[in-house]
Formats: sequence, structure tokens, C-alpha cells
Amino acid sequence: MKNKCASFIIFILTLCYCNVAIATQCGKVWLSVSSLWRPIVASDRVVDAELEVNWDLDCPPNIELPDTIKVFDANPVHNSSLKPLLILILAEHPYGYYRTNIVVGRPVLPGGWDIADGATLPGTHCLKHHAALYKDNAILTSSCIGIWPTWMYDLRRQLGRLPIGTLMIPGTHNSGCYKHGDLTRRDAFQRYLLTQDRDIWTQLVHGIRYFDLRVGYYPPISHNGTRIDEIDNNHTSRFWINHDVIRINPLSNIIKDIKNFLDVARGEVVIMDFHRFPVGFEGRQGRHRKLISILHREFESLILKPSRGVDGLGPTLNQIWNSGKRLIICYNDKHTVNEYEWLWPPLTQAWGNQQTPEGLFEYLESLLMNPMKTRITQNPMWAVMAELTPRPMDVIFKPSGSLRQMADSINRNLTKLFQREWWKQTNIVATDFFLGNNIIDVAIQSNIKKSNIAQWQL
Ligand SMILES: *[C@@H]1O[C@H](CO)[C@@H](O)[C@H](O)[C@H]1NC(C)=O
Ligand SMILES: *[C@@H]1O[C@H](CO)[C@@H](O)[C@H](O)[C@H]1NC(C)=O
Ligand SMILES: *[C@@H]1O[C@H](CO)[C@@H](O)[C@H](O)[C@H]1NC(C)=O
Ligand SMILES: *[C@@H]1O[C@H](CO)[C@@H](O)[C@H](O)[C@H]1NC(C)=O
Repeated sequence: MKNKCASFIIFILTLCYCNVAIATQCGKVWLSVSSLWRPIVASDRVVDAELEVNWDLDCPPNIELPDTIKVFDANPVHNSSLKPLLILILAEHPYGYYRTNIVVGRPVLPGGWDIADGATLPGTHCLKHHAALYKDNAILTSSCIGIWPTWMYDLRRQLGRLPIGTLMIPGTHNSGCYKHGDLTRRDAFQRYLLTQDRDIWTQLVHGIRYFDLRVGYYPPISHNGTRIDEIDNNHTSRFWINHDVIRINPLSNIIKDIKNFLDVARGEVVIMDFHRFPVGFEGRQGRHRKLISILHREFESLILKPSRGVDGLGPTLNQIWNSGKRLIICYNDKHTVNEYEWLWPPLTQAWGNQQTPEGLFEYLESLLMNPMKTRITQNPMWAVMAELTPRPMDVIFKPSGSLRQMADSINRNLTKLFQREWWKQTNIVATDFFLGNNIIDVAIQSNIKKSNIAQWQL
């Protein structure tokens, strides 16, 4: 009875709130962006960021399945004479997936969100590509690649009373490992280095709220080749985002993007998780303090102090908004956390260390379908790491493998698995090449569902 009632409410709410991917009685269609690339003959450039179509059909028994999906470069609902770029006959594609050769690239973000100081409109906005699901030439539903920069605050009436530890929060794994601008062949051959292909600003604007950060410390080298330690008083340029022992982007770029975003999106809550310190921190407590002093200087007025909340699930979004502080900084070094009252304790990352899709899905299934899963840590939040991990030997000896391929082999299934069951137990979920899945959309819809069952289940 309760469940029927809940699904009725969920259905109504889904119809009202979901512009990005509208649910119908007969299923959903999503657009995503492939993490794979193709070489261009005799060129240093490559083709990447191609459009993918995913669908999940599920009609009640008395209704016939949709037959066609069409892809457009504008909204077909607004213009019936629009010519499709692509027509898919669904009977020919039983797996609910099609990779197109339509290049999405790195388009301007709509709604004024392309630059930090634009007129930033709240709500969802579509990039140009749309897909629509048809039965006998009638549109059942359509969707786009969307951004939803202000989803938390836009949905404040539903989400406000959920504690931060019960929300489903979309995140990225090794969030700062992206390349700025177009991919070249040289970047593409760095097969095990990059985990993302959008910068932090773009991740935030799409709806990502959790950032897994691995920081390295690099003292400057003096002209005679020795390292200069701790002399000037602004050490910002010494901190980098690393992939293991390799530095990828200056930390200052990440700080700048998050700061700009918090300034313009005034109701959004962001989590920075300083999770690993792979270079330069071992036995150097002073360097942790230096990093902390930079974070304090840059974010001072925005930092939310840790609190366990009711049942150890953390503060609700309403409590966070009332405090006026919207940045949570988790720090995975116990000594440092003990020294600063505003740092949140280490956040648990559930990481399966899996090399195959089957292995990863089995790991996540047992993790997320076990209702007795306990939260034993001091931090009210925890993160599911939903990505494959290469073996050290693969990096050297498997020329055909790459992080892009590994992300491609799981991303579309992750969308469906989280959407069907896993959302219930999920707090933070962090993926690689996040535009290859639709976890942001699933998370937002799941939070609406969670807010409706909150009274009796959470
Ligand atoms: C509708 O699409 C057609 C074909 O692409 C185009 O010529 C026309 O300008 C569009 N109309 C509107 C109102 O956007
Ligand atoms: C290199 O320069 C630094 C100061 O810049 C100095 O302290 C150090 O002694 C020099 N080392 C050598 C080997 O000359
Ligand atoms: C510290 O240096 C960075 C760049 O290296 C600069 O952007 C920042 O404004 C400096 N901060 C202060 C307080 O000097
Ligand atoms: C991913 O989903 C497809 C289509 O539903 C299915 O055929 C495939 O077996 C799934 N892969 C894994 C590893 O579960």
C-alpha cells in the first residue's frame, strides 16, 4: 500500500520536475557523450565527445512499445518541421544503446553559464542536441543533454529536509584530471592519465557536487637545481592535482572554478574531498598546514563546519542554507583534521578495485543491496566509487586498453542500475567521464523520490 502510494506520488513528481529526461509510461531516452575517440588521418587532432543515445523501454502490458528514436540539433517539440540528424528503428537495436558519429564537442554552456560572470539563469537548460521517442510518428517523450546548475536550490521545497548523508549526490572520480580544450592525439595516447574531459566549472554547471581531489606538493627548483623550501608566503602554485605521481593541473584552477561557482549559484552545496596526497606530503605536516591556510584564505566565509546531525546523517539542506555556509571540505589526514574545527573528517570511499564490468557490478550490487550497511565513520557522508581500476601491468602491456575504454564499458549500464534500485542506498556516487552516464539526472530524480519516502524509510 505504502509503496503504491509512493510510486504514484513519484510518478506525478517526475512528470512535473523532470525537464531533462521526461519519464513516460513507456520508458525513457537519454543522451550521453562518449568517452572514446577516433584518430583523424594525417592530423594531430582526434574525433572525440560523440553523442550516444540510450533508452530503457518499459510499457504497461496493454500498450505497444515505442518504435523509433530521432535525434535532432534543436528541440523537436518546439518545431515540427525540424529534420532529424538520425533515425533509429528500435527493433534493430535491442540493447537500448547507439553510439552516433555526431560530435558534441565542447559547446558553449547555455543560460549564461559559460563564463562565471554571465547572467546565470536558474533551472535546466538544454545543449542543442535532443532525442525523441516515437510510436507511430507521435512523440512520447524527448530529452536533451542538459545542464542543471541550480538543482539543489530549485528543488528546495522537496529536498530541504533531507540530511546531506541521505541525498544522492553526483560526483566525479579524480575530478581534477582533465585536459583543458580539445583533445590531441598526444593526449589521447596518455591512456591512463585523464579521468574526466570537462573542467571543474563545467562539471559544476552540469550538476556535479562532489569532487575527489588528489594533491601533490612541488617545491620550486632554484637556478642551481636544488629545491627551495617554504620561503615565500604565497605557495599556491606549489600545489597540483595529481594522477598518482604525475601532476595534471594546478590546484589554483580548481579553487578558482569552485569559488566562482559558489559566488553565482548561491543555493548550491559543494563537497571538496581532499582524499589523497600522493607526492610531497609524507612526513611533512607543515605542507598540510600550508594547503589548509590556502583553503581558509580562499573560502573562509563559505566553509561549513562539520556536524553529525540527527542519527549521524549530517545537517539537512535547510540547516545548511540557514547557516549561510555552502562548502564542505573533507580532509583525509587525521592529524590535520584534529587541528582545524572546520575540516570534515575523512570520508569513506567504497572502492572495489575491479578490472571488469561484471566484477564492478557484482561489487556494487552487494554494497548497495545490503540494507544493513552501517555508517561507522565520523563523516555523515560516504562515496561509491563507480569506476574500473586498471592493473599496474595493464598500464604497461595492454596497448588497446585505456581509462576511456574502461569508462565506456560501464557508464551506460551504471545509469540503468542506479536508476532501477541502487539509488536508494546511495549517498555520493563518483564516476569517470561523467557525461558518458546520466547519473546526474538519476540523482536528481532519486532525491525527489527520497523526499517522498523520507517519512517512513530513511
Ligand atoms: C524549424 O526548423 C526548420 C528546419 O530546420 C527551420 O527552417 C525553421 O526556421 C525552424 N523554425 C523555428 C521556428 O525555429
Ligand atoms: C643553491 O641555492 C640556494 C639558494 O638559492 C642555496 O641555499 C644553496 O646552498 C645552493 N646550493 C648549491 C649546491 O650551490
Ligand atoms: C597567490 O598566488 C596565486 C597565483 O600563483 C594568485 O592567483 C593569488 O592571487 C595569490 N594570492 C595572494 C593572497 O597573494
Ligand atoms: C550492460 O547492459 C547491456 C544491455 O542491457 C547488457 O547486455 C550487458 O550484459 C550489460 N553488461 C554487464 C557487464 O552487465
